[in-house]
Amino acid sequence: MHGFRFRLRESTRDEHDATERAFGRFDLATPKGYGHFLLAHAGALAALEPMLHRAGWTGWTSRMGHLQADLGDLEIQAAPCPQENPPQLPTDAHVWGAQYVLEGSRLGGAVLARTIPAGSPARYLSGAESGRPGSTRPWQEFCLALDEVAKDQGEPWEDDVEQGARTTFALFRRHANIISGYDF
Ligand code: HEM
Repeated sequence: MHGFRFRLRESTRDEHDATERAFGRFDLATPKGYGHFLLAHAGALAALEPMLHRAGWTGWTSRMGHLQADLGDLEIQAAPCPQENPPQLPTDAHVWGAQYVLEGSRLGGAVLARTIPAGSPARYLSGAESGRPGSTRPWQEFCLALDEVAKDQGEPWEDDVEQGARTTFALFRRHANIISGYDF
């Protein structure tokens, strides 16, 4: 019997695949493509992270500092993105869903870190903030915590987590679209 996180992966697979396609437009092998990829992530994180403190997973940590340091090394100014609608994460369950997406995005990031131009800053993609670059331990800890908290909840809570995850994936896609200048 698989836990809740496994079911969440299955129920949001469509969202992941659409988001992977949206970010697949950036050619990470070029400095420009890599910079645009980081800028799109910065826009999404700027909108999301203020809502993720003091709710959901207690182990959650911001990755914005490392993202900004990478952008700084690339001499890219992170312009504030127009944020007409702040993301809706009204309950603790929605926050768990958003954190699921952010923590899980490290998995793809570790793969993508191998494709960027040699010598590029990669604090954000390599997961340097954990002090253990390339480690999947934060992800494993998050999954354990999610499965544990889910045991005491019911279907409405699970639906809210899924909704929070969908909102978050969609936000990333929106920022990918903003940066690449056309709709996906
Ligand atoms: C070009 C872009 C991307 C690629 C190639 C990619 C690839 C991957 C791969 C290979 C995994 C599975 C890794 C494993 O099981 O060890 C994964 C998992 C995941 N990715 Fe992505 N990804 C991309 C973008 C994103 C983005 C932008 C987000 C979020 C905004 C995201 C969220 C996730 C999540 C939540 C999981 C965990 C799924 C689960 O096992 O529950 N990915 N990704």
